[in-house]
Amino acid sequence: QAKTLFEKNILLIGFMGAGKTTVSACLGNLLAMEVMEMDAYIQKKEGMSIKDIFAVHGEEYFRNCESNTLISLQERRHVVVSCGGGVPLREKNVELMKKSGYVVWLTATPEAIFDRVKDSTERPLLNGNMRVDFIQDLMESRREKYEAAADIKIDTTNKDIVEICEELLQKL
Ligand code: S3P
Repeated sequence: QAKTLFEKNILLIGFMGAGKTTVSACLGNLLAMEVMEMDAYIQKKEGMSIKDIFAVHGEEYFRNCESNTLISLQERRHVVVSCGGGVPLREKNVELMKKSGYVVWLTATPEAIFDRVKDSTERPLLNGNMRVDFIQDLMESRREKYEAAADIKIDTTNKDIVEICEELLQKL
């Protein structure tokens, strides 16, 4: 098990606010693996915030940044990747993720998600749509894509970070 873990990456997917960033940081520590937060990586590379990338270049451009990041990951091993919430929307991305490592889908109820993201001003898709029903509909429209990409699924609702990481390591 330990050896296989070493040879692969771990990719965290799921809706905004599902806990990808927090869980990736914790896993990175526990497993002594490098962590890549995809949004942060893209912001640094592009020299502007996600919000500005959407505003200046549009969503399609941002989605291309995500695909390019996944392509650059193919030569790398032993990285925990916190993917942006929209990464599994492209079929090609799903292929790239599966080739790269274990895909872990973090879920939570729309109410829990709302609670975690309600004060965020950095998520353009939720700008002006910060409501439970909007979140629920967008989550539902993505469910099949997340499901198709995932090797394992973990519900993070009402769990603390230690419980989530323990469950993840057991299932891996
Ligand atoms: C997005 C999720 C965001 C970010 C962008 C688009 C999405 O990442 O990539 O705002 O389409 O779900 P987080 O899931 O880290 O918030």
